Amino acid sequence: IGDKIGLTPALGWNSWNAWGLSVNDEKVKISAKEMSDKLSAYGWNYINIDDGWEAENRAADGAIVANSKFPDMKGLTDYVHSLGLHTGIYSSPGPRTCGGFLGSWQHEDQDAKTYADWGFDYLKYDWCSYSEVTPPHPDLPALKKPYELMRSSLNKVNRDIMFSFCQYGWGDVWKWGAETGGNSWRTTGDIQDTWRSMSDIGFSQDPASPYAGPGHFNDPDMLVVGKVGWGPSLHNSRLTYDEQYTHISLWSLLSAPLLIGCDMGHLDRFTLSLLTNDEVLAIDQDALGKGARQASKTDEQQVWVKELNKGEKAIGFFNTSDKYQTVNLDANDKLLKGFAKARDVWEQKYLIAVNHKYTFKIPPHGVKLIRAM
Ligand code: GLA
Repeated sequence: IGDKIGLTPALGWNSWNAWGLSVNDEKVKISAKEMSDKLSAYGWNYINIDDGWEAENRAADGAIVANSKFPDMKGLTDYVHSLGLHTGIYSSPGPRTCGGFLGSWQHEDQDAKTYADWGFDYLKYDWCSYSEVTPPHPDLPALKKPYELMRSSLNKVNRDIMFSFCQYGWGDVWKWGAETGGNSWRTTGDIQDTWRSMSDIGFSQDPASPYAGPGHFNDPDMLVVGKVGWGPSLHNSRLTYDEQYTHISLWSLLSAPLLIGCDMGHLDRFTLSLLTNDEVLAIDQDALGKGARQASKTDEQQVWVKELNKGEKAIGFFNTSDKYQTVNLDANDKLLKGFAKARDVWEQKYLIAVNHKYTFKIPPHGVKLIRAM
């Protein structure tokens, strides 16, 4: 047991964006089996239960209890572990979670112990109703307090549990998330499967980027690829394919946890291809854990640059306009200076310079993701 966990961003699945509060044991098991069969070879590893697993009342001794949709939590984590995967659970420091279920307020030690006894490896801890038990307009110590409390409870149990804060970015959480013991922290409100939501979140992460590092990452919320629906209305992500390339590229440049939020039982070929590109995932999982910085921005294009291990660099050229763009990049441009090769990581081929220029087209809302090496 120590603090050396989560050195690269989590790669996994979370139940919320597909199932909302209708998550159950069977859906989690199917997700685990699909991950193990189709994704784990690429590094995907966490199967995380979000809100909706908690019973109406605690046990007589105060212990948190799962509801009838989760008849055997230990059996479930045993199953997930038997597939070689890790698994996560969800709670709130408040009396109630965002979905109105029981939170951990005044039961922090007890709940941390229950999660550990059940075999969980990851906790998402979501502010929600904590506002009711803290003074209005909480200052920094008040914002940190519930997370410090649960961190100390997690430190007492005999199990490594990744700790993921969720409080929507308040108080510039990226500045104090690491010292408060978070392995990741949400930097924004909830994502939706629209260009507006995804791009507003993704392209606003520059101020948080300097604070990412091994063991502590900014979390711009879960992925909206594949079939999502937050419970009743599963539908294919409303992001176009090019917007989905942008989504995965940007999150990887940011060293964000990649938490798939879709119906894992119906992974289509396109979604699988998005999630199984080793060279893209390697950018997310780079050992330095740096967050990309915004190198330039116009109304129509943004360039983000991430420093990689061994002096390499990942560069994302994003077309934020509705029209095709042609980029003519000088091989001696300062972005590429000193690098022998530029590799298109989605297409997995080297760019060829003609007259010392790389020329490429970027579709509307699309991206060219390059590894300079
Ligand atoms: C909040 C969080 C979501 C999800 C729900 C669950 O909205 O931001 O990610 O966990 O609560 O109720």
